[in-house]
Amino acid sequence: MTRLMAIFGSPRRQGNTATLLRQAVKGARDAGATVEEVVLRDLKMSPCLEIYGCKQSGQCVIKDDFLELRENILACDGLILASPIFFYTVSAHTKILMDRCQSLWVKKYWIDETPYTSRAFKRRGLFIAAGATAGKRLFEGTLLTVRYFFDVLDAQLWRSLCYRELDFEGDVEKHPAYLEEAYQAGRDLVAVLRDDAGEKAGKGADAP
Ligand SMILES: Cc1cc2nc3c(=O)[nH]c(=O)nc-3n(C[C@H](O)[C@H](O)[C@H](O)COP(=O)(O)O)c2cc1C
Repeated sequence: MTRLMAIFGSPRRQGNTATLLRQAVKGARDAGATVEEVVLRDLKMSPCLEIYGCKQSGQCVIKDDFLELRENILACDGLILASPIFFYTVSAHTKILMDRCQSLWVKKYWIDETPYTSRAFKRRGLFIAAGATAGKRLFEGTLLTVRYFFDVLDAQLWRSLCYRELDFEGDVEKHPAYLEEAYQAGRDLVAVLRDDAGEKAGKGADAP
């Protein structure tokens, strides 16, 4: 069974990215995946305090909801993250999660000494974003941020769905093509993860 995490990064429960993410979740479930939904605004999660308590073991020493979320992310095959664009980057809720994953960065690159150039992905991620304006470069910074956040999770940024000119709650409902695209992306993600699992199993069978 393919396990996915769906991470709602907007403070708006019925906002544009939440609607798009729900579509992707529906697609993934229709394709047979188990999807756990996490609404970041409902969690008690401190920002990273930069005390590097994670230096010994890679475990974050701040005891809050991040610890369980971390375990769930590490146990999933794929993730779908949705965030609005706030000042050309992700929402504060999303950024807090990203920064807390510095403990995983420490584990990967300092403790396990993974080469910085290594791209051995264990999972794949879909990113969904919405912004109000029409600017050509609206998603540029965010996509870089998300790519390197996913990298820390050993997740390839497999696909991103970035929609401009969505501002008020419900705006995305006027774009059935976006909703369909998000649904299909959820389905496609599960299909590609199944292929990955099949390849891994095949490799295992060939091993001496
Ligand atoms: C604090 C804040 C900052 C924002 N910054 C930007 C921005 O830099 N560029 C932009 O195009 N839209 C910006 N917006 C608009 C949101 O990206 C837009 O309303 C989006 O559709 C919200 O998604 P949501 O409904 O999923 O929360 C901002 C909105 C807020 C509340």
